[in-house]
Amino acid sequence: MTLSFGLFGCGVMGQRHIKGMAKLRQAGRMRFALEGVCDLIPSSAERAADLAETLLGKRPRVFASFAEMRAAIPLDGISITTMPDAHVDLGVEALQAGVHVMVEKPIALTVRQGKRLVAAARETGRKLAVAENYRRDPINRLAKALIDAGAVGRPFLAVQASSSNGEFVVITPWRHLRRKCGIVVDMGVHYTDILEYLLGPIEAVVGMNAIVDAQRKGADGALHPADAEDLSVGAVRFKSGALGNWMLSMAGRGAGYFHRAVYGDGGSLVIPTDRTGQPLQLTVRRDGRDIPLSEAEQLALVPDFALDPTTAALFGSERLSSYRMEFADIDANLIAIEYDDFAGAILDDRSPEVSGEDGLRSLALVYGFLEAERLGRPVTAAALLSGEVSAYQDELEDAAPQAS
Ligand SMILES: NC(=O)c1ccc[n+]([C@@H]2O[C@H](COP(=O)([O-])OP(=O)(O)OC[C@H]3O[C@@H](n4cnc5c(N)ncnc54)[C@H](O)[C@@H]3O)[C@@H](O)[C@H]2O)c1
Repeated sequence: MTLSFGLFGCGVMGQRHIKGMAKLRQAGRMRFALEGVCDLIPSSAERAADLAETLLGKRPRVFASFAEMRAAIPLDGISITTMPDAHVDLGVEALQAGVHVMVEKPIALTVRQGKRLVAAARETGRKLAVAENYRRDPINRLAKALIDAGAVGRPFLAVQASSSNGEFVVITPWRHLRRKCGIVVDMGVHYTDILEYLLGPIEAVVGMNAIVDAQRKGADGALHPADAEDLSVGAVRFKSGALGNWMLSMAGRGAGYFHRAVYGDGGSLVIPTDRTGQPLQLTVRRDGRDIPLSEAEQLALVPDFALDPTTAALFGSERLSSYRMEFADIDANLIAIEYDDFAGAILDDRSPEVSGEDGLRSLALVYGFLEAERLGRPVTAAALLSGEVSAYQDELEDAAPQAS
């Protein structure tokens, strides 16, 4: 059975989604057809339709709204690649029309809005998937398998720290405005997801944040206002008792920096930047000595580790410890995996890997770094998810009220 899909939002990520679909098609694993595209800007939708025609062999029809597309096409699912503040109204409309939804990260602008989307999926019994791509990198899959197999013993510390981007616009100017979804939230949500992916639920977070650049320079040299934090420093406590060290600088000058690592009582695992294909660095503690393990030795520790068939087809092997590929191909492959999971969830009537509830957690946790500073104390995931702690987010909703 071939599912019928529509794509909403034909900007930067919408076009990357079409490239992801093309990877699935090349791998002979596309279980859906892209029948429609939609953007508020007609020329963007036309451009996406052109790209799809070139890459997918068939031109999707162009629409100006969900209602129009739904009336013309018997849709099974849609993907939403609009800015975060437009995810929820569109998603709820689709779910209530009986259509499954995959929404780009972050699930919504605020936790309160994200909960509306999750509730709509629950009420309608439709699938709600969050397109979170970083964890699907084969290297992160191996990292998780090694941690789960006890390769570093009992983990007691995780580090997620990075510095990049300087004073420039990161992809689009809206990412520097709080009410559109500031850059710490837009980017950091990948990292709260991966911390929980690797080490399980986070119980509490604390943070301090700053705005380094109150203006950002676009590619044409034009300056854009920036009222969103671009530096976040914090800590987390996992339910397991492990602690996490958090730093996200999107204003980094000088040397770029990325460090993701898990330290346990049996060694350490250093995990490379996502989408680079670089190998893990696993160092195990044996008889009081620290011994680095080769890629072959890493794989030998997880004899049952195997990538799912679609990931294996896209990356060329079931058991990978590193790979070499152009960034654009890696990026498209990870999006292809998201689509395969979304289609599989619909066809097999199972939960997608990253559900609405999972997407809501990663959003709540990244806001935790900002909310905690308002309160001057650590905040729990439970309080963030229940809405008990929401002062920072309330201001965003007051600034840009959403239709309910
Ligand atoms: N996973 C990743 O690696 C990654 C990378 C980039 C962006 N993203 C996510 O993708 C989403 C989009 O980001 P982007 O960089 O493509 O933004 P963008 O501004 O380039 O594109 C968004 C598009 O959505 C359109 N749009 C807005 N409201 C709409 C509506 N109601 N119906 C139809 N179209 C509408 C806009 O006109 C615009 O063309 C965001 O949630 C972002 O966080 C994820």
